[in-house]
Amino acid sequence: MTTAPPRPLVAGNWKMNGLASALAEAATVRDALGRAGAGAPEVMICPPATLLAPLAAVAQGSALAMGAQDCHASASGAHTGDISAEMIKDTGATAVIVGHSERRADHGELDRVVRAKAAAAHRAGLTAIVCIGETKGERLAGLTLGVVDRQLAGSLPETVTAANTVVAYEPIWAIGTGLTPSPEDVAEVHQAIRAHLTQRFSPSGGGIRILYGGSVKPANARELLSLPNVNGALVGGASLKADDFLAIIAAYV
Ligand code: PGA
Repeated sequence: MTTAPPRPLVAGNWKMNGLASALAEAATVRDALGRAGAGAPEVMICPPATLLAPLAAVAQGSALAMGAQDCHASASGAHTGDISAEMIKDTGATAVIVGHSERRADHGELDRVVRAKAAAAHRAGLTAIVCIGETKGERLAGLTLGVVDRQLAGSLPETVTAANTVVAYEPIWAIGTGLTPSPEDVAEVHQAIRAHLTQRFSPSGGGIRILYGGSVKPANARELLSLPNVNGALVGGASLKADDFLAIIAAYV
């Protein structure tokens, strides 16, 4: 079954960066989006949890969407320091990143934890942006497609639909390094992800957005974002400055 390509999404992951003064960058993005025409991609900023509420105020009534960077799997309870998907939804966010490789590495999150968090996002009415990707060693050993398939199998809950889930392919060795896979390699992995999604989540798998992430910059955005089955980008470092982020979004215009 052929499906029309989904509307692209360009999401900025601010990671553990940004004080209140950074809201000015978000406001600059918001104002530029207000001038963008039809056919423009969906644009989202995922700030640290401390900025969710103030960023919601900045984005209110505009085309700028907001997501969080992680959530707990439970709706509430004795989990000091954590926040739930319901709390994130309560701030006005529409999405949450789960399973980012930095959380997998820093907090030992396994696929089953990521799957529970994605299911929590769905329960709360949020879009889950589920991150997967191979290490440098796995890439060099020719294991990439198997690793990605295993992560998808383990990290995606049965509640996945095209409306509530985005997959972000982020090769770990490309994150924050300035390195990117070749366009052929990106296209190969995205094709394999698409095949997994269409096979497992019929009929909506063809409409699930697959983002590329890892050293996306203004200089490489146009090439990466024009590849088949690349339905947008998850942008780290280059999303912190409005000018760079807008230049990446402009790859679609
Ligand atoms: P980067 O990060 O763009 O700084 O490489 C991407 C990410 O980790 O989402």
